[in-house]
Amino acid sequence: MASEQKFDCYIACLGAGYVGGPTMAVIAKNCPNIKVTVVDINPVQISKWNSDHLPIYEPGLDEMVKEVRGKNLFFTTDSESAIKEAELIFVSVNTPTKMHGVGAGRAANLKNWELAARFISKVANGPKIVIEKSTLPVRTAHSMRRVLNSNDRGIKFEILSNPEFLAEGTAISDLMQPDRVLIGGESTEEGQKAVNRLKWVYQKWVPEPKIITTNLWSSELSKLVANAFLAQRISSINSISALCETTGADVDEVSRAIGMDSRIGNKFLQSSVGFGGSCFQKDILNLVYLCECFNLPEVAAYWNQVVVMNDWQKKRFSMKIVDKMFNTIAGKKIAMLGFAFKKNTGDTRETAAIYVAQQLLEERAAISIYDPKVEADQIRHDFDEYKALPANTAFDDLITIATDPYEAVKGAHAIAIMTEWDEFKNYDYERMFASMNKPAFFFDGRNIADHAKLQAIGFDVYAIGKPYDSLINMDR
Ligand code: NAD
Ligand code: UGA
Repeated sequence: MASEQKFDCYIACLGAGYVGGPTMAVIAKNCPNIKVTVVDINPVQISKWNSDHLPIYEPGLDEMVKEVRGKNLFFTTDSESAIKEAELIFVSVNTPTKMHGVGAGRAANLKNWELAARFISKVANGPKIVIEKSTLPVRTAHSMRRVLNSNDRGIKFEILSNPEFLAEGTAISDLMQPDRVLIGGESTEEGQKAVNRLKWVYQKWVPEPKIITTNLWSSELSKLVANAFLAQRISSINSISALCETTGADVDEVSRAIGMDSRIGNKFLQSSVGFGGSCFQKDILNLVYLCECFNLPEVAAYWNQVVVMNDWQKKRFSMKIVDKMFNTIAGKKIAMLGFAFKKNTGDTRETAAIYVAQQLLEERAAISIYDPKVEADQIRHDFDEYKALPANTAFDDLITIATDPYEAVKGAHAIAIMTEWDEFKNYDYERMFASMNKPAFFFDGRNIADHAKLQAIGFDVYAIGKPYDSLINMDR
């Protein structure tokens, strides 16, 4: 991969995941004069990026990758050559919650980041700009600079923080039209030169006023704070959903009423069975841990409550299912529609569905699962990974995976909507009702179905933050 300077700039990205893949595809698409090489330690992941079946599903991603792959976008396991060739190196490796040792269950595990930094330091053939794309605890750049600059060849590295704000399911549009691009760097001359070089890349498609520059620590911290604020809104409205269910208020009406106040705004006020995804919980726990480390227990407790409320919401949903189905679901079949943590993605990390399933299985329900994008192998893997099966039971004893939603609900006692896929709004629920055990229950964990219509069909309908009793016909 010897550089013939055919391009104006060479970029490498370590980590070909949900962030690395789409982000680099968008850079390549907007900057034909830049060569972008994405590397990963997992060869299977790289071969999928080089195939017709990409490792992740995102609307618009397939087309974009096909357009630029092999022209100025490359996927390879040859990290050394990519690093040597690059001027800018993004590090977009996973930073999950630490599962052992000090800070277990809360602190971010920086093992992958440090290994990446050590590798860059070892193989680099000259000065490089290393960019934190992963979400990291504030002040990580300090440790990383020490690791990078500890090489014995006197090579100096500049570190930038450039957190990613894309959401899954809308990654391509978020990257093409970002609300803002944040670049944190040092105030030194070299630091500012590095900031400007990265700015030059984004300027190819992002309007100048949307590119904001800050010091390193503000940039690192802003990413954690953005996720904490977003998740906090969901926990706030979910806490109110419980109050709605007991007072006769309707949470969607409350959301609408408060969201029209321009100071509050109407986004992220959709009450649900609980937020999922790989980052909200991980990043809040990371923030909580940092606050504790900096001796700010009140701040830590404040943010921790966002996660506590989310766990409670998931539990509340499953307990509502048990309660409404006459306090026993043993041997009853519950059809879960949706398994992804949100619509338009096949990602199941920290999905509310796995926690609800676990609680229903504890009650010895049988579960059938249908999701339009999640592969059967992934679902099996998740039950194993999250240890969601009761002791002494096997997956096939209790769970079936359906490839057709009508098959999933056949013979079921209840339907539970777990993900807000659009197609769930338009099913032939009369046909589903006819094939189910009676009384047939409908639990809408996303408030997307037409509840009045379902009731007219004959379902007993329960939704999040809806005044149940007024919805239910007393005669049934
Ligand atoms: P991911 O698990 O999908 O991808 C990470 C990839 O990095 C994996 O393929 C892994 O094999 C690879 N990797 C690990 N160590 C490596 C190394 N030393 N060298 C090369 N490759 C290595 O993770 P993701 O969802 O893309 O998240 C990456 C980071 O971005 C995390 O810090 C996350 O918090 C943050 N983030 C994620 C999202 C999102 O929507 N998923 C959005 C914004 C920010
Ligand atoms: C979130 C943030 O939105 C991104 O800005 C951030 O970059 C990303 O985390 C990250 O750091 O990983 P993502 O988790 O992909 O993105 O998806 P969201 O749209 O934020 O949804 C997260 C969860 O909250 C989903 O389970 C979703 O269903 C739920 N949600 C969202 C609600 O329950 N109600 C809402 O009103 C919005």
